[in-house]
Amino acid sequence: MLIQPTEKNDDNDDIVQWVRNGIAVRVFGEAADASNSVAAEIASLIRQRADDGEQCILGLATGSTPVRVYRELIRLHREENLSMKNVVTFNLDEYFPMKPNAAQSYVRFMNEQLFDHVDISPDNIHIPDGTVTPDRVTEYCQQYEDAIDTAGGIDLQLLGIGRTGHVGFNEPGSEQASTTRLVRLCEITRTDAAKDFGGLEKTPQLAITMGVGTILRSRRIRLLAFGEHKSAIVERSVQGAISDSVPATYLHDHGNVEFVLDSAAASKLNPSTADVSH
Ligand code: F6R
Repeated sequence: MLIQPTEKNDDNDDIVQWVRNGIAVRVFGEAADASNSVAAEIASLIRQRADDGEQCILGLATGSTPVRVYRELIRLHREENLSMKNVVTFNLDEYFPMKPNAAQSYVRFMNEQLFDHVDISPDNIHIPDGTVTPDRVTEYCQQYEDAIDTAGGIDLQLLGIGRTGHVGFNEPGSEQASTTRLVRLCEITRTDAAKDFGGLEKTPQLAITMGVGTILRSRRIRLLAFGEHKSAIVERSVQGAISDSVPATYLHDHGNVEFVLDSAAASKLNPSTADVSH
């Protein structure tokens, strides 16, 4: 069994970590500590790039999982001088169609949860546009890909995971080489989103999402998952074989992926099956 030596965090809590199928798994007792650890890594990357006079390109996620990371980045901005002036962001996805000012829009989510509270330039923010007309979506998605490449590629991509194993909105059946495109959401994903839309029938069927291939081009990937309800899909994603039926398994081959979990989300993992080569 090759569990790496246990680290301590600032509160002297144990962080257990091991590698399986090329994925570094880090397990914290609490989601708050896991979130603060990822926020600290992001802040360090932003500062390092600023010291080098460079921009830091972040891929961002929405949903309940990254909220505490954003809260900690806001605290670091207010209390510890973290500037986001050199940060360029690309969000993973947006419902389609979706007006930016609608209650459920990811534009609104990102403004409320992060952008309105830090010094990022509005010109540096990119979120898939849910108002593009259907006849222009393909062209628009290619432009989104091009914008990521023009910015120099994503330094660090933050991910959550859906109960279907989706990353972004790449549902089961997505191809490893897929790029930004219009996709149909699974019923499980729509059911999970229905509370935000006031019922399943009002929940969008479609979304624009970065592809699996887009995500895999990122230099670092940090996937967060918290809570017992994520434990089964986390287990399949880390310990299962690579398969389009669980798109998160495509992360196995990337080379710089960490799953940052609380103990509830990690509860079905078996550290004794860690990779021998790590
Ligand atoms: C959101 C996204 C999705 C979510 C996933 C988990 O931008 O891309 O993959 O990360 O559905 O959502 P939560 O965090 O609400 O459980």
